[in-house]
Amino acid sequence: MSDKPLIKLHNIKKSYQIGGNHQQVLNGVALDIYKGELMSIMGQSGSGKSTLMNIMGLLDRADEGEYYFEGGDVSRIDDDGLASIRNREIGFVFQAFFLLPRLTALENICLPLVYRDTDKQQMHERAMAMLEKVSMADWAQHKPTELSGGQQQRVAIARALIGQPALVLADEPTGALDPRIGQEVLDLFIHLNEQEHTTLVIITHDPEVAKRCRHQVMMQNGLIVETKKA
Ligand SMILES: Nc1ncnc2c1ncn2[C@@H]1O[C@H](COP(=O)(O)OP(=O)(O)OP(=O)(O)O)[C@@H](O)[C@H]1O
Ligand SMILES: [Mg+2]
Repeated sequence: MSDKPLIKLHNIKKSYQIGGNHQQVLNGVALDIYKGELMSIMGQSGSGKSTLMNIMGLLDRADEGEYYFEGGDVSRIDDDGLASIRNREIGFVFQAFFLLPRLTALENICLPLVYRDTDKQQMHERAMAMLEKVSMADWAQHKPTELSGGQQQRVAIARALIGQPALVLADEPTGALDPRIGQEVLDLFIHLNEQEHTTLVIITHDPEVAKRCRHQVMMQNGLIVETKKA
């Protein structure tokens, strides 16, 4: 692990206005994430985990606070600039997979590279290599509806990783899977962290998932109330 944080959050605040009601969702979150780290974030429903992930993933902006990504202050960057960092540096995995139904597994995995003008042949080679890494090489030409939940999540993980992002954010990646398959998906994440040193943040409700992460963070009412390093 490097001694320079990949991400540095300080005093991050976020509120929503719902029907005239002001709801403070993040109350001053401070968090450093280092390269190569494997972090879990737990906390009750509504504690602000996904809101925090959206801010870390540059999908949304904080109202207040400081956010440094690879040393750069991203609060000063315009939306196009944020999108460009997001597309290159961040991979996402969600509970609901979000694969495009009309595309094959291989084509889904290529998506992050399509925006980068990568040569088609080279793109397919990289996608095949990713499919091998997630043990899905035999399923390259299948559509998502022909795959099980666990298989779809493997494809989603390959898609998140193909652009070699600095950071992978996973919001309840095992939440829709039965426990045994969820375990396999988690094993895959841990393997990728150990072998490829992918920096990985996993939001989870499952203490068994959290326990396997070296750095464990607990959120409550929009604050980080506990951090443990194994
Ligand atoms: N786009 C939004 N507009 C208005 N309110 C929102 C929005 N997104 C989240 N909230 C509110 O912010 C609070 C925190 O939501 P968030 O999704 O971050 O919680 P969470 O910790 O991820 O919960 P869960 O475990 O259920 O996924 C909730 O009360 C939610 O209603
Ligand atoms: Mg959530």
